[in-house]
Amino acid sequence: ADLFGAERSNSAGVDLNDPETVVPLGRALATAAARRWQAAPLIDGRAEPGISRPVFDPADRRRAVGEAVWADPGAVARAAAVARAAAPGWEATPAAGRARCLETMADLLETHRAELMARCVRETGKTIPDSVAEIREAVDFCRYYAARARAEFAQPQVLPGPTGEHNEIELRGRGVFACISPWNFPLAIFCGQVAAALAAGNAVLAKPAEQATLTAARAVELFHAAGIPPAVLQLLPGDAQTGAALVARPEIDGVAFTGSVAAAQAIHRVLAAREGPILPLIAETGGINAMIADSSALPEQLVTDVLDSAFRSAGQRCSALRMLYLQQDFADPVLDLLAGAMDELVVGDPAWLETDIGPVIDADAQQQIEAHVAALRHCGHQVLGQGRLGAVTANGHFVAPVAVEVGGIQDLEREIFGPVLHVARFRVDELDRVVDSINAAGYGLTFGMHTRIDSRARRIADRVHAGNRYVNRNQIGAVVGVQPFGGEGLSGTGPKAGGPRYLHRFATERVLTINT
Ligand code: NAD
Ligand code: ALA
Repeated sequence: ADLFGAERSNSAGVDLNDPETVVPLGRALATAAARRWQAAPLIDGRAEPGISRPVFDPADRRRAVGEAVWADPGAVARAAAVARAAAPGWEATPAAGRARCLETMADLLETHRAELMARCVRETGKTIPDSVAEIREAVDFCRYYAARARAEFAQPQVLPGPTGEHNEIELRGRGVFACISPWNFPLAIFCGQVAAALAAGNAVLAKPAEQATLTAARAVELFHAAGIPPAVLQLLPGDAQTGAALVARPEIDGVAFTGSVAAAQAIHRVLAAREGPILPLIAETGGINAMIADSSALPEQLVTDVLDSAFRSAGQRCSALRMLYLQQDFADPVLDLLAGAMDELVVGDPAWLETDIGPVIDADAQQQIEAHVAALRHCGHQVLGQGRLGAVTANGHFVAPVAVEVGGIQDLEREIFGPVLHVARFRVDELDRVVDSINAAGYGLTFGMHTRIDSRARRIADRVHAGNRYVNRNQIGAVVGVQPFGGEGLSGTGPKAGGPRYLHRFATERVLTINT
């Protein structure tokens, strides 16, 4: 049972060292990847025709993996009208019925694991271990929110009150939610947002990132197969303009957004300027995430956790480590270890099991990351470690991991979304000032601390403004129901995805008082 008594467990892993698992999985992945996938706006269950855009593999831009049709403003308007009409019926569906659909969805995700992994690998460049984790997280979100819906939405809670009066409080869906997701968790965050909004009793207009359309389209088909009515969940593929058209629709009652700070702020401004009801915005954005390691830390463990936090998923995680502070008395040996380990990282085709780092998402991302590193070099910042590009990277958007010395977080103007680690040294008497500068940057997503001084770990964790603080481990890979995930300040409006109160953000609370 979880914190609030709901019965549930997270999905099982896949043993990638077991040939009996890996060989059939490899075959299934190859079969799935040989197909060309299609996506189009799905309005009340019908695919809308439109201009077909090829989707290319970020690991090899010569390879088209499918085609996608984007939703134009007319399609957005039609879908919004359908959702508006469907919302009351879904809200009236008992929470147990909604939960059953999400549990069936979780089962379907597991049944279709290989095909979904193939889409993650080929459409967004996820490595095999990351793709396994992606499916697991999507499954866990569906089961977790189903359990929360059963526990909290099934019936009102009776409140204490004076004799002769009955008081109760209940959670109800708000109506129509726009769910706008990023490409870096093409299945997990897409399914997480959608499942939460549905569990809470809302109709959903889902706008996946333009770089992750084919994966999201398959997820919507599976949601429908799991029993979610087509009018209750509709798909609106497209880019920022499609998202902006969706946010402007008068039919919506709330927005769940995960992505960059700039886009969250743009959406916030649009919602604030609307006439009529004040709409909730659930925003989960990026971070300039820091880790502090003092000289009591275990160097080997520290380096392993830094590699994982900074470079796994090619550094394309909102949680990823961007700014490492090393106590200066032990910085040199740690940096030697780090440079050696970075040299061993395999950058290459994400479909290969031995690959540590796949491609970044597109040419734009590659150019921005490379320009950032070039600018640091140009300003005289020393490169402390650099990985190498492996074979078959010439036709893809690959960036070798790099560690660069800077003065501190104040030297970073924005989140660099790729395999770039910034490193600074500090004296132990500067520790509090380091923490102040991390807080002053204004983000607040993840934070890491490596130390064997327990009192220091607690004291620093207590002072840092960050939603997820990790001590003596990596700072990525939050697990549903175990490390509810989300940030504060520039990193978001504070919801904790995979946490016990997440569904409340998608709901409205009503109180009933009866004089008996
Ligand atoms: P992005 O902001 O460019 O796009 C995210 C989504 O918003 C996409 O679907 C996009 O089309 C849409 N969009 C963009 N501008 C919009 C607008 N003005 N109106 C409506 N919709 C708009 O982000 P991205 O590049 O897809 O994803 C990477 C970013 O997401 C990084 O900053 C990362 O840190 C963040 N992220 C945060 C979390 C978290 O849980 N906090 C998780 C994953 C990613
Ligand atoms: N929840 C994801 C992580 O923790 C973003 O890495």
